[in-house]
Amino acid sequence: MRFYDALWALILNLFVDLTASRCLLAPSDPEWPSTAIWSGLNETVGGKLLATIPIAASCHDRFAQYTSNLSTYNGSVCDALRSTWFYPETHLSSPSSPMAYSFTNNSCNPWVERDVPCTIGYDVAYTINATQISDLRHGLEFAKDHKIRLIIRNTGHDYLGKSTGAHALGLWTHQLKLLEVGTYNTTNYTGPAIRIGAGVLAIEAYRFASSHGLMVVGGNCPTVGIAGGYSQGGGHGPLISKYGMGADQVLEWDVLTADGNIVTANATSHSDLFWALRGGGGGTFGVVVSMTVKAFPDIYVSTASLTAVDNGTNTDIIYDFMKSWLRALPQIVDAGVHALWFIGPSGFSLVPAFAPGLHKDELDALLQVPIEEMKKAGLHYQYSSNESATFLSAYESLATGCNVSDYNIGGRLIPRSLVLSQTDRLVEAIRYIGSEAILSGVSFNARAGVISPDEVAVNPYFRKALFNAFIGVPINYTSWTANQATLDAITTDLLPALEVLTPHGGVYLNEADSRQPDFQSTFYRDHYDRLLQIKRLYDPDNIFYAKIAVGSEAWEQQLDKRLCSLE
Ligand SMILES: Cc1cc2nc3c(=O)[nH]c(=O)nc-3n(C[C@H](O)[C@H](O)[C@H](O)COP(=O)(O)OP(=O)(O)OC[C@H]3O[C@@H](n4cnc5c(N)ncnc54)[C@H](O)[C@@H]3O)c2cc1C
Ligand SMILES: *[C@@H]1O[C@H](CO)[C@@H](O)[C@H](O)[C@H]1NC(C)=O
Ligand SMILES: *[C@@H]1O[C@H](CO)[C@@H](O)[C@H](O)[C@H]1NC(C)=O
Ligand SMILES: *[C@@H]1O[C@H](CO)[C@@H](O)[C@H](O)[C@H]1NC(C)=O
Ligand SMILES: *[C@@H]1O[C@H](CO)[C@@H](O)[C@H](O)[C@H]1NC(C)=O
Ligand SMILES: *[C@@H]1O[C@H](CO)[C@@H](O)[C@H](O)[C@H]1NC(C)=O
Ligand SMILES: *[C@@H]1O[C@H](CO)[C@@H](O)[C@H](O)[C@H]1NC(C)=O
Ligand SMILES: *[C@@H]1O[C@H](CO)[C@@H](O)[C@H](O)[C@H]1NC(C)=O
Ligand SMILES: *[C@@H]1O[C@H](CO)[C@@H](O)[C@H](O)[C@H]1NC(C)=O
Ligand SMILES: *[C@@H]1O[C@H](CO)[C@@H](O)[C@H](O)[C@H]1NC(C)=O
Ligand SMILES: *[C@@H]1O[C@H](CO)[C@@H](O)[C@H](O)[C@H]1NC(C)=O
Ligand SMILES: *[C@@H]1O[C@H](CO)[C@@H](O)[C@H](O)[C@H]1NC(C)=O
Ligand SMILES: *[C@@H]1O[C@H](CO)[C@@H](O)[C@H](O)[C@H]1NC(C)=O
Repeated sequence: MRFYDALWALILNLFVDLTASRCLLAPSDPEWPSTAIWSGLNETVGGKLLATIPIAASCHDRFAQYTSNLSTYNGSVCDALRSTWFYPETHLSSPSSPMAYSFTNNSCNPWVERDVPCTIGYDVAYTINATQISDLRHGLEFAKDHKIRLIIRNTGHDYLGKSTGAHALGLWTHQLKLLEVGTYNTTNYTGPAIRIGAGVLAIEAYRFASSHGLMVVGGNCPTVGIAGGYSQGGGHGPLISKYGMGADQVLEWDVLTADGNIVTANATSHSDLFWALRGGGGGTFGVVVSMTVKAFPDIYVSTASLTAVDNGTNTDIIYDFMKSWLRALPQIVDAGVHALWFIGPSGFSLVPAFAPGLHKDELDALLQVPIEEMKKAGLHYQYSSNESATFLSAYESLATGCNVSDYNIGGRLIPRSLVLSQTDRLVEAIRYIGSEAILSGVSFNARAGVISPDEVAVNPYFRKALFNAFIGVPINYTSWTANQATLDAITTDLLPALEVLTPHGGVYLNEADSRQPDFQSTFYRDHYDRLLQIKRLYDPDNIFYAKIAVGSEAWEQQLDKRLCSLE
């Protein structure tokens, strides 16, 4: 009897050891660094180590986590937080708050009663507020030495929750604001170029470029980063149909790799990494410190908006109009226009059409076909258009209030061929989705930036897509159960309406359902195998992990929030 007990105990212990050793640490583990050891890290980074206190702690009586139990309620601070919650700036200045609320597991909700507990949830445990490369390197080495999960955070905008993670040490790049203008001269490109630090926001890059008579490719929202998840994940934006995607512009990356070295990745040095970072996704190949991108001489830009309100009796007419709208789109984007339109319970709106290098009358003419269709159908519509002398003035005139997303999201790339061959079925699917969600069509011709879709790692499906069908269902801050139900609806009901029309299709990794099945093939298509090889080459010990990023299938996040290796 005793013998079997002993044997059983041995087996159990072995099992525990095995599970433990394949997992990164949690604060309850005896090996978790002591406060003194964390203080040691703090000293090496000059006092820039921050312990996480969720930003909504002021709305709760206490924040209890790990060894701390703080009294945190402050009514005026909480009110101020609530009134600014949806502004990106509120989260940009936080080292830990994920802008996509659903990734907190509702652990510290600003909209509920103060006596509801506030805990750390899936937020990182600590963050280094890096101001120089050595801060990043110290963090990387510390995480390796102590088996701590590592997270790279720039703005925290990520829709898939990739810049947050439980029990992790965050490397925060927000302060890395380098901006330098110069010229680049190689076989394939001679011309102006701008070096952009990891923490630069799109609007900061646009303003800097503008002050030198230039413009650079970035996204639609001013506070999204440019060298982080945006360009590394592909990147679409106002200039896409004229110059290509964000990733297509990159001439060089400076990267802190898993071995602690800084490498320059360009066409002739570490060209594999150079390729992978141009669209293979943020958070998994290394820490980008800066990138150098092509810059273009500033030009005039025209913008237009076209809207038709759904008043409850014209829904059929609006969806009928959608068919002519979709058929007209190829000609519009092929003229260099980026068109961002929305359809949902409140109707149709094109806000805006952004046309670099087109005069106002040229843009008006391009949009004549859909406008005539609206007239013919008897739709009441509103149209306006303007011309600006520069990219920046056009961009700023739109004053697109880009709030933190208060939507749970999903997306699917819609190929040109489908739009033309199966317009009716596509509009049917859009109408089905539009009755429960907002659908936005981010429309472009993404072929301008590359000669071949394989030149960069970006999902090659982009080059044959006409738009990204981007679905949003409002986040329910007061009922977590209802919120989970909308997430399920996106995965199991709304996206499938588009999936059946686009078998073996493609999805934009930055604007996707975080539970997208077959993410390897939908996000990366036939670039995945090469991306995985490059990941293994540069990060053989899997130091960098991000949810559904290249190589993430080697890990599993357990219910106790630990990240454990499956290999
Ligand atoms: C309001 C809003 C508007 C958007 N508009 C657009 C748009 O117009 N076009 C478009 O293409 N996309 C758009 N996006 C999607 C956007 O590109 C992604 O959310 C992107 O991941 C944001 O990158 P970030 O660096 O700002 O954010 P973060 O959330 O900080 O980081 C995103 C990912 O990149 C990694 N990462 C960040 N910095 C680095 C670095 N220096 N080195 C390595 N990895 C890094 C992070 O680990 C994480 O995995 C939008 C998103 C939001 C929320
Ligand atoms: C790190 O040091 C700074 C300066 O001494 C201090 O303000 C900060 O609280 C410390 N961080 C942690 C996590 O202890
Ligand atoms: C935190 O402190 C409060 C007040 O002292 C106490 O009631 C509560 O149980 C403590 N919580 C934890 C998790 O220790
Ligand atoms: C609440 O926070 C404000 C601003 O930081 C501060 O001035 C005030 O004293 C705080 N109130 C309490 C009760 O702590
Ligand atoms: C943006 O957020 C602010 C502050 O939270 C809110 O008042 C406003 O209605 C939001 N705007 C949009 C377009 O959602
Ligand atoms: C989310 O939080 C709830 C408590 O509110 C907890 O029971 C649950 O386990 C958490 N979910 C995960 C996946 O950790
Ligand atoms: C991060 O560091 C910058 C200075 O480099 C400082 O202005 C900022 O307040 C710090 N952020 C936090 C949250 O401590
Ligand atoms: C670019 O480099 C080539 C070859 O080194 C040189 O001949 C040419 O003058 C350079 N062009 C510019 C604009 O610097
Ligand atoms: C130039 O572009 C070609 C075609 O994309 C590519 O194969 C080559 O590596 C590039 N060379 C340099 C030096 O950039
Ligand atoms: C790539 O970077 C290396 C190292 O800085 C440099 O010597 C080389 O000229 C660069 N190559 C290109 C094509 O820019
Ligand atoms: C054009 O300018 C007018 C007047 O400033 C403004 O009301 C309208 O919204 C603008 N339209 C677009 C598409 O920028
Ligand atoms: C709704 O709008 C349509 C045209 O867009 C118009 O014909 C109809 O009269 C409107 N109905 C109401 C109730 O306003
Ligand atoms: C959130 O869900 C609850 C419960 O289903 C519902 O009563 C409430 O109206 C929802 N709130 C929003 C803003 O949808």
